[in-house]
Amino acid sequence: AGFLAGVSSARRNTAAKPAATVTVEVLYGSQTGNSERVAEDVVAALRAQGLGGTARVLDDVSLEDLAAMQRVLVVTSTYGEGEMPDNAELFWEALASPTAPRLEGLRFSVLALGDSGYDEFCQAGRLFDLRFEQLGATRVAPRVDCDVEFEDPAAEWTGRVVGLLAAEAGSAPVPAPAAPVRRERSKWNRKNPYPSRLRVNRVLSGAGSAKEIRHLELDLAGSGIEYAAGDALAVVPRNSPALVDALLAELGFDPDQDVSGVPLREQLGSHWEISAPSKDLVARLAERHPDSELAAVIAHDDKGLLENWLWGRDVLDLLRLHPDHGVDVDALAGLVRPLTHRAYSISSSPLASPDRIHLTVAAVRHGTEREHLGVCSTYLADRLGEDDPVGIFLQPNAAFRLPADDDAPVVMIGPGTGIAPFRAFLQERAGRGAGGRNWLFFGDQHRADDFIYADELEEFQASGVLTRLDLAFSRDQAEKVYVQTRMRENSKELFSWLEDGGSVFVCGDASRMARDVDAALHDVVAEHRGRGADDAAAYVNDLKRSKRYVRDVY
Ligand code: 2AM
Repeated sequence: AGFLAGVSSARRNTAAKPAATVTVEVLYGSQTGNSERVAEDVVAALRAQGLGGTARVLDDVSLEDLAAMQRVLVVTSTYGEGEMPDNAELFWEALASPTAPRLEGLRFSVLALGDSGYDEFCQAGRLFDLRFEQLGATRVAPRVDCDVEFEDPAAEWTGRVVGLLAAEAGSAPVPAPAAPVRRERSKWNRKNPYPSRLRVNRVLSGAGSAKEIRHLELDLAGSGIEYAAGDALAVVPRNSPALVDALLAELGFDPDQDVSGVPLREQLGSHWEISAPSKDLVARLAERHPDSELAAVIAHDDKGLLENWLWGRDVLDLLRLHPDHGVDVDALAGLVRPLTHRAYSISSSPLASPDRIHLTVAAVRHGTEREHLGVCSTYLADRLGEDDPVGIFLQPNAAFRLPADDDAPVVMIGPGTGIAPFRAFLQERAGRGAGGRNWLFFGDQHRADDFIYADELEEFQASGVLTRLDLAFSRDQAEKVYVQTRMRENSKELFSWLEDGGSVFVCGDASRMARDVDAALHDVVAEHRGRGADDAAAYVNDLKRSKRYVRDVY
């Protein structure tokens, strides 16, 4: 019976020919948890076919592990402008290096999640797909790129690859009871959001602030939603009725006409993205106005230049600037993207607030001739009455979690609304009675107007939960002072927290703050280890690998 060893008795009875045991590895890179959930679904589908399989984070896989694998399914999102998700970055770095091993024996397929509203759509998935091919691996099935509405194409890809792998392995489906039971999932999701109510809506920032930062509380009562400190909440917004009216007037469309079974006014209000112009709309307008400024900008073929030009301009602005648009209702339907949810880092802990999720949101308003409103932030700030339902669903962020060890030190860097998850962390640590030290770096423009949650932070200090608070108000003195300035000033102590097993969390602006904070962290390590930049980079990479340097940046 030697060659049947390892084959389950169920298989021995049903399979026509004994097949070698094939293990399929499902590797994922996930920023907001979507890819992780898809990966879990893939594993469930594989197990139902008797193909075993586990879901692993890409960064937990070494090249040695990879070289030993036979079948790999990669599910990855792309983050920001074509970047790898944080938990796939190290794996990618290794895979992309010239010393990566050949993968001739490997069969694979890639599912890429992305958002076509960004440049470099599905870039992370494309890179993996290409690199595996370069290294000699062969595809089980072609890569599939999914846009924001990823559920259906993801399910199709899953069905296809699992079917092909099952056929290859000659395996017979395992009877239903043998299929693993998945982690219970909230029934509320993008397609079926929970109708919550906004219970608290108050301005935190002072009258002199450049920003309008609000504290919001959304009711969970009866929803069954169980969140964790570090998770994000997705909110399904509606467009401003004033903007909808202005657009209808500009285009001279009948608001009551039917568009795909829905009155036009409702399409514009609830289903179409009418703030950010789509790439298709931009291209069409430039084409119809070859002498326009927009056409000139596009001719430069410079992403940054176009972004700058588009900044602060919405669909209505673009139509007004290019009156020869020739857009009728059908054309418009094809030139706008679907209005999607916006995600916010939750600023409460379930230990302090089990029945309400708190958010800390900057209401976005700008423009001189006509006020331009941030879609979701002003929907929450201005347009929700006490009894109006607001669609929400949880976006778990399994990576952004306090250490399991309550005694481990925690360093939190979150200027502006980046403080949100750290308010949650402090509440959580207080609620747990965690004894570990906590250090918060916070800042913004001016202390007088922007020091949000100051009272609460003082209480956390008084009760000993917040061990250190370092503040950086950038415009209260001649010299700019940023959170990374404070990190550098306190580099010796910061390094000692790392050496004591501390974790570093960063939340907030990605392109400037998080980039400069990352550089400061490297410098702090280099200064105190005294072994140069490469050694510091390796040290920081170790922190990342052991989930002790985690970012929630946007
Ligand atoms: P500034 O606008 O005065 O330059 C929140 O927006 C805070 O982040 C503000 O105090 C802002 O300062 C600051 N900020 C701007 N650029 C930054 C950077 N590169 N790193 C850290 N903070 C920055």
